[in-house]
Amino acid sequence: MEPYETVKHDVLIIGAGGAGLRAAISVLEAGLDCGIVSKSLLGKAHTVMAEGGAAAALGNMHEPDDWRVHFRDTIVGGAYLNNHRMVEIFAHEAIDRVLELEEYGAVFDRTPEGLIAQRPFGGHTYRRLNHVGDRTGLELIRTLQDRAVSMGPTVHMEWTVTRLLTSDRGVVGAVAYDRSDGRIIVIQAKAVVLATGGWGRMYRYTSNSWESTGDGAAMALEAGADLIDMEMVQFHPTGMLWPPSMRGILVTEAVRGEGGILRNGTGERFMFKPEYMPERYQGKFADSPEEAARWLDDKQNNRRPPELLPRDEVARAIYKEVRAGRGTVHGGVHLDVTHRGAAYIRRKLPSMYEQFMALGSVDITAEPMEVYPTVHYTMGGIHVDADTCQTAVPGLFAAGECAGGLHGANRLGGNSLTDILVFGRRAGLSAVEAASERKHEPISESQVAAEVELLLAPLGRTQGEKPSVIASELQEIMQNNAMIERSHEGLTACLSKLQELKERAGRLSAAGDRRYNPGWHAARDLLFQLRLSEAIVRSALERKESRGAQWRSDYPATDPEWGKVNLTVALRGDELVVTRVPLPPMPEHLQAIMNEGKK
Ligand code: FUM
Repeated sequence: MEPYETVKHDVLIIGAGGAGLRAAISVLEAGLDCGIVSKSLLGKAHTVMAEGGAAAALGNMHEPDDWRVHFRDTIVGGAYLNNHRMVEIFAHEAIDRVLELEEYGAVFDRTPEGLIAQRPFGGHTYRRLNHVGDRTGLELIRTLQDRAVSMGPTVHMEWTVTRLLTSDRGVVGAVAYDRSDGRIIVIQAKAVVLATGGWGRMYRYTSNSWESTGDGAAMALEAGADLIDMEMVQFHPTGMLWPPSMRGILVTEAVRGEGGILRNGTGERFMFKPEYMPERYQGKFADSPEEAARWLDDKQNNRRPPELLPRDEVARAIYKEVRAGRGTVHGGVHLDVTHRGAAYIRRKLPSMYEQFMALGSVDITAEPMEVYPTVHYTMGGIHVDADTCQTAVPGLFAAGECAGGLHGANRLGGNSLTDILVFGRRAGLSAVEAASERKHEPISESQVAAEVELLLAPLGRTQGEKPSVIASELQEIMQNNAMIERSHEGLTACLSKLQELKERAGRLSAAGDRRYNPGWHAARDLLFQLRLSEAIVRSALERKESRGAQWRSDYPATDPEWGKVNLTVALRGDELVVTRVPLPPMPEHLQAIMNEGKK
């Protein structure tokens, strides 16, 4: 057995994005010893990629917003697959969490009256996105990090956790390695919070950073938790398209929130086409470009431009325009905000201005951007209890993007930043409670040995498969077959290719030794990605309808019967098993809120 170091914490938090840091604050406030593991350096988490704002119904913009409308918007936007209780907690508590963030020191943009400024975003009835220009995620991370670090956690930077350790009483710790020198570390903990984010990197074009390989969800599955709604992968309508090396980088929805217009290659403002307006939104959006233009400054007129439909609808419309041969020269559409004027754009969208200038030599104050959908977010994730964030494994909690249930079949923009605040805090509090009832348990040497063997195997193989080659083939098949448009044919072809890749991944080889070896790191990440890709594809095959982010060209209708079930995924031996789980009926008090919206 390879030698390893051991460290001990009361609570181990895996992931140092917004959910992990907010959980850490709760643990530290309770006076417990808290270890935070970050796969990269502190401050570099993927949270920064939620740029346009944090949604909470503060009602600062002279609009009659409240948590009930936010509840309704989130359920309708999620195509009714959401966990009702999670949405209730979320819409309620998002308000306090944003105000708390301000108390922690976040510097939000302001209204002329000095209130936190809010901007419109897709699927939100009112201007609800509390923002800091187009750098809201960055400000959120900065603020939470200052707060958490001031309370003295132990931060293990550039460590990757690869396996959760369990006993018959639940989770007892984890195995990690140090990315710089390859040291192996066993972490003992009384409670563990997973806050590891999503898994967009298995697609070719994504806004996600290199870290988003789904480690947390895959480890939870392997430890005995189940996953939910895995077929639901969000394609953000606007990613950069050109130059090719920049393809997939996020173009924030704030551009459309600030009045940005989408046009196809022929110059047509295609979102006004009746076929792109779903029945449930009819009458709620501007009928003409003239009305949409008036809406920008008229807070009494709530009929927003159709560019602000939820993301699943806009992404599909762009995809269809391009597929029909009406794309731009590089195969996308144009996003134009020039009519807002250079000074306004540079004040409200400074990052977009810099991004396009530096990376594409495009001046967005004078010319349109070229955009195309990019994989941005995973609605599915670890199945948790709504109130406590508890997984099926005692002592193990999950929050943020790695957890599923809140967003249903499609997440509304801006709901992720408040998700991580609301449920990061709740997961932290639950971990505190669990840690006070549990003690450090002995670690199973055989579990550690099995992980160490798996982890080190690629270094010992001189002949074998290169992780980068398999990762690239994986991205290709997922991009082609499990993207916006899906079919039985494409998904089954994808599944059989996945089986082949899984088999080849048993012979991964990485040259060099354990120090600073990205090829070796990629080998372990790849096993997580293959596991979750299979969960996505199997779930997408099982759901024989179109709903939210899942568009099946062979089952184009939304089937009310399918609206009554979530799909869960569990690991039995080495097999993934997909199960239909009925959604509980919506409680009366929440149904009343939904009915209110129909009036
Ligand atoms: O477009 C954006 O700024 C992304 C926000 C989000 O995903 O919530």
